[in-house]
Amino acid sequence: MKNSGIKSVVDFKRYKEEKRSISMVTCYDAAFARIADKSEVDCLLVGDSCGMVSAGYESTVPVTVDEIIYHAKAVRRGAPDRLIVADLPFLSYHESRESAVRNAGRILKETGANAVKLEGGEYFCDTVRTLVACSIPVMGHLGLTPQSVNVTGGYRVQGRDPKDAERMKRDAKALEDAGCFAIVLEMVPENLAREISESLSIPTIGIGAGRYCDGQVLVIYDLLGMNGKFNPKFLKKYANLDEIIRNAINEYSADVKTGAFPGSDNVF
Ligand code: KIV
Repeated sequence: MKNSGIKSVVDFKRYKEEKRSISMVTCYDAAFARIADKSEVDCLLVGDSCGMVSAGYESTVPVTVDEIIYHAKAVRRGAPDRLIVADLPFLSYHESRESAVRNAGRILKETGANAVKLEGGEYFCDTVRTLVACSIPVMGHLGLTPQSVNVTGGYRVQGRDPKDAERMKRDAKALEDAGCFAIVLEMVPENLAREISESLSIPTIGIGAGRYCDGQVLVIYDLLGMNGKFNPKFLKKYANLDEIIRNAINEYSADVKTGAFPGSDNVF
């Protein structure tokens, strides 16, 4: 059965009004997109986390617009009808509103993604307004913003300090007013995420932001347990593919060495 899912960015607000929780998962290639397309998940995110979990970079900072385009095109091929949000990578929207429109426009035109996501608050609201005016839907991203790792010094919970919490609340309202259709809250104390969620008419999508966001997002490699050493508190693993894949490769390798593969069934 195919999920009717979220078909347009307009549905996000409706889901919130109807108190329906939104499920989002990252996706970086056609193979996973084909599987996700047959699932009940509401929408897909081509996150710049592809740089870390798939390309092996230390952070998301090196990810380029061309890399996001490569991944988003593959995801669109695997999931032709799904709502896809693609990340605007570091420095693709910072220089000017013109460069933001050019890069976000390329992502939508060349990949078939439906919306972009950008990290940051009030400072980027003019950019958000410009993108939305150009018919490019924007998802915001507050709390831990991994593209700023060189300033924040690590991947830690954000908003514990009352001043930071106040700023995050202001940023969330400003992003809503600027036209964002939803906001990701990453690594935010549950009470703060709840307060922000209750203060907005657009949905919040949490990752490490507790139980009261309007939806949740996880990195697909994380929820599938592809890295046995990555066990943050916020993560629930729904599979242990690290071990399953390793065992399968070992079995194959052993079969090759003993001559059990290829067998008589595998030859022409
Ligand atoms: O890049 C990404 O995968 C993300 C999610 C963690 C929200 O931004």
